[in-house]
Amino acid sequence: MFTLKSLPFAKNSLEPHMSEKTLDFHYGKHHQAYIDNLNKFLESSEMNTWSLEEIILKTANKSEQSAIFNNAAQVYNHEFFWNCLSPKSEDRIISDELLSMINSAFGSLDDFYEQFKAAALGQFGSGWAWLVKGDNGLEILKTANGDNPLTHNLKPILALDIWEHSYYLDYQNRRGDFIDAVMKNLFNWNFAAKNII
Ligand code: FE2
Repeated sequence: MFTLKSLPFAKNSLEPHMSEKTLDFHYGKHHQAYIDNLNKFLESSEMNTWSLEEIILKTANKSEQSAIFNNAAQVYNHEFFWNCLSPKSEDRIISDELLSMINSAFGSLDDFYEQFKAAALGQFGSGWAWLVKGDNGLEILKTANGDNPLTHNLKPILALDIWEHSYYLDYQNRRGDFIDAVMKNLFNWNFAAKNII
């Protein structure tokens, strides 16, 4: 049985970049619905004692288990995503180690922003953009619907939800403005630094 974890920030603290109203729906309705659906699907399943990660890895790419996979992955993705956001200016400071990995993978922080935005804009329809760590350092990954880095054997470092429910109330069709606002004003680089270890 999974439950909705508390947000790591106050719902109005990300304004004006992400409104309390967006979080009321995105966290309170969409994220909650993924949890409720997952619990319902797990009621009569042997998977009901498994961890979220185990459920995701065991049901990935199995069409008969796509409903469980989609909901489990979306629960994982949203829990991860909320931790990628912070209203605190000190969370905008990038550690020397992480910055050096970014420079080596993408050229510079600005190059990373540019490439991350291009990936997030280029994801057709619903999905996610990720900064991930693979065998050869940092990479950018875009995934469709609920898919995530775990199924690609990659470690998530930062995530951006680019489903329309993530930005439509605040930005309507302007996905690019939403991406810029989150990358530059809300990304929690302290959380990202913990994930590279
Ligand atoms: Fe979402």
